[in-house]
Amino acid sequence: MKHTYTLSNIDEAAAALWRECRSYPVITLSGGLGAGKTTLVSHLCHTLGITDAVSSPTFALVNEYRLQLEGKELPVFHMDWYRLKNVDEAIDAGMEDHLEQARSGDAICIVEWPEKAARLLRPPYAAVTIDILGDEERELSIQLVDHP
Ligand SMILES: Nc1ncnc2c1ncn2[C@@H]1O[C@H](COP(=O)(O)OP(=O)(O)OP(=O)(O)O)[C@@H](O)[C@H]1O
Ligand SMILES: [Mg+2]
Repeated sequence: MKHTYTLSNIDEAAAALWRECRSYPVITLSGGLGAGKTTLVSHLCHTLGITDAVSSPTFALVNEYRLQLEGKELPVFHMDWYRLKNVDEAIDAGMEDHLEQARSGDAICIVEWPEKAARLLRPPYAAVTIDILGDEERELSIQLVDHP
């Protein structure tokens, strides 16, 4: 699926993203520096009714938010792998544990800069790419990666 949006209709883009990806425990967000990954996560979380402040996990590498979903409370792990040098560093920072928790249905993971430790990703996950089309115009491409 592709979806073009600007800051004025980003909530619709976030809702469309969730409709498509909600059955996937892990959502990755690719796109260059300043493409709008964190901004989209913030709007997605808002759409989901998350009241925690959503910000870039650049320093902590992972932020945790609480999501109320179908009568159950789930952690949302918002990760930013930009500063990780390799997979070992990602594992040391607990990223694999968060992914594992999501795969067992007990969390949702959202990953910025998944390329930095791509080997940790295993299907099923939803791979989202943000392309910059103009000043405020962006294009979302969603690829659902399932078991072969
Ligand atoms: N349609 C849009 N969607 C998202 N951000 C937009 C859009 N148009 C303009 N922007 C601006 O682009 C910037 C995107 O910053 P943001 O931190 O979300 O990017 P990022 O992809 O997370 O960057 P990083 O790689 O550093 O993590 C913000 O200043 C935001 O206001
Ligand atoms: Mg970011």
